[in-house]
Order: sequence, then structure tokens, then C-alpha cells
Amino acid sequence: MATEKWVLMVTAQTPTNIAVIKYWGKRDEVRILPVNDSISVTLDPDHLCTVTTVAVSPAFDRDRMWLNGKEISLSGSRYQNCLREIRSRAGDVEDKEKGIKIGKEDWKKLHLHIASHNNFPTAAGLASSAAGFACLVFSLAKLMNVDEDPSHLSAIARQGSGSACRSLFGGFVKWTMGSKEDGSDSVAVQLADEKHWDDLVIIIAVVSSRQKETSSTSGMRESVETSLLLQHRAKEVVPKRILQMEEAIKNRDFASFTQLTCTDSNQFHAVCLDTSPPIFYMNDTSHRIISLVEKWNRSEGTPQVAYTFDAGPNAVLIARNRKVAVQLLQGLLYYFPPKSDTDMKSYVVGDNSILKEAG
Ligand code: DP6
Repeated sequence: MATEKWVLMVTAQTPTNIAVIKYWGKRDEVRILPVNDSISVTLDPDHLCTVTTVAVSPAFDRDRMWLNGKEISLSGSRYQNCLREIRSRAGDVEDKEKGIKIGKEDWKKLHLHIASHNNFPTAAGLASSAAGFACLVFSLAKLMNVDEDPSHLSAIARQGSGSACRSLFGGFVKWTMGSKEDGSDSVAVQLADEKHWDDLVIIIAVVSSRQKETSSTSGMRESVETSLLLQHRAKEVVPKRILQMEEAIKNRDFASFTQLTCTDSNQFHAVCLDTSPPIFYMNDTSHRIISLVEKWNRSEGTPQVAYTFDAGPNAVLIARNRKVAVQLLQGLLYYFPPKSDTDMKSYVVGDNSILKEAG
């Protein structure tokens, strides 16, 4: 390693993902191993994403991280697990132009500075941790020349936040729960790339950008401890639903896709209600959006829009094509005008896309 002062950095941009078959509940809290498989759609990275720059320099005296401009602590086990796993796989790095040579062993002594920015509300039920940890792991892997395929990287991102493992791929992604105790087979795999079903348009109606009261992590812990419905869902319902969803995606069968997506979202929120004390993520506006979509789908005779809600009141609406998306946006703006007390904004997210390395 050269002794003069230098900084080496990598910037990556990673999209968030929205589950259409939800992950809710862990069988191992430390390794972040889920009680069921899940399936998600990755969003266009230019709209809802995290941008992370990771830098290494002999001038840095400790690892530090800034999230949206504010320094945060890296002492938590989730960050520490990701950093340890990536460091243990680091390779040799050489930048001839700058005269920098970093050997595998040097990474253990060098410190990192990490700056991450979300272009959407953090912790408001829009899967900010998914994009965040996926981007962190991806950018560190690039910086440290980690020679692993995205599935292996997904198993590292999973240890930061479960849903993050699915953001290592674009398009439609399945997180297989795995059965090994060490979690090495609990990884994400791509079911279909972003071009497979590019008619779909995803609209996110931001009902509230306030931070949620119950985090996903503590909410799902309470559900595992108290909800019988969760046990039934994980063992009896999701395994069949996963197979059906894989078929629906493969065949671009929007009617089945909608039925499965909406039913799964509703069952996830039913599990939240079945938790003691009950967890309320959706609000009146969320319920009104569900009614609007259900009525519209029924009146058309065939489904036009699927809805799904994560751990917050914001609606994720998947329109079957652009024409339907325009009608949906008009309907949303008519019934929920942005300046009303519902504080709703809505915007088109666009096509699915893949993870990008910005530099
Ligand atoms: C409702 O991945 O945020 O969005 O693993 O504890 O970090 P941790 O939880 P997180 O949970 C996401 C839950 C969900 C459903 C999903 O994305 O599958």
C-alpha cells in the first residue's frame, strides 16, 4: 500500500423494491432469516432510489457514515455484519493512474467513509432500508473488488435488512427463505428481468411521509410472538401463493397477479391486526384507496390495477398499462386532491430497472 495520502471511491445507485408476496416474520433475528419466501418488483432506480458513495483513505481514522447528510452510528450489528462480511471477501485493488495498490489484508486496517442519500421518505413504509443496505453492500463490493455474484451479495445485504436482498436484482425477484441454519441458502434470485413485463406502471400514492410508529423489525417480531394467523400464513398459505405468483409473472397474467398481490397485502395487514397489541399501518385514506380500486376493477369486469401496502399507509398501485395508469392518476387526483387534508401526492414511478453502478 502506498504511503502518500489518497482517497479511492465508488458511487452506486440502487432502487427500492416493493413486495407483492410479503416477507413478515423472522425465524432467526440475528442472521435475518424469514419464515416464508417473498416476491417483489424492483422499481426504476431513477425515481425511488438510494445513492451511496463509499470512500477509503489512509487518512480516515475510523469507519463513519452519513445518511441524508446527518452522521449516524455504525455500531449496530446490522451494519457491523455487512461490513465484516464484505471485508472478509475483499480482493486486491490497484489504481495505476493514482499509484494506489491495496492488498487483501490492507482492507482490515483501512477505514471507510460512507455517504448515503434516499430520494424518498426514510422509514415511511417505502422500503428505504431495502435500497439502503443493497446499495451499501453493492458499492462496498465494487470498492473492495469482491468477486461474488449478486445472489451471494444478496445474502450479505439480507443481514442489513431482510428486504434489501431483493434489491440486488432488477425486474421480478424471489427471496428464498432457505433451510440451512447459517442462512447461506437464504438468497434472492431473479425470476424475470425488467423487460419481461414492461407494460406495468407503478404509482405510489404518498398518503403520509411521516415515520411509522412501529418499525417493520419490531412489528414482525411481535407478530411472530403473538399471531396465530402468521403461523398459518407462513406454513399453509404463502408456499402455494409463491408458486401461483411465479406462474402469473411468467405468463404475464395480470388478473392472477392482481388477485394474489391484493390478497397477500390484505392478509399481511390482517396479521398485523392479529398481533397483540394490534398494529395499524394503514389509515382511512389507505382504506378509501382500496375501495376505489376494488370498485373500479369490478366495474371493468377484469382487473386494471393491483394495490399493495407495506408497513405504512402509502399505497403502491400497479396499473396494467400506461393508459390505465393515466386514468388511475386522474382518479386519484380527483378523489384525493394534493392540497386537501389527506396530504396525498402521487407520481408515476415507471419501468422496472436494474441496479446501477454510477462510477
Ligand atoms: C412489509 O426488510 O424492513 O416491507 O428485515 O427487520 O429490516 P428487517 O425488515 P424489513 O421488512 C420489510 C417488510 C415489508 C414486506 C416486504 O418488503 O417483504
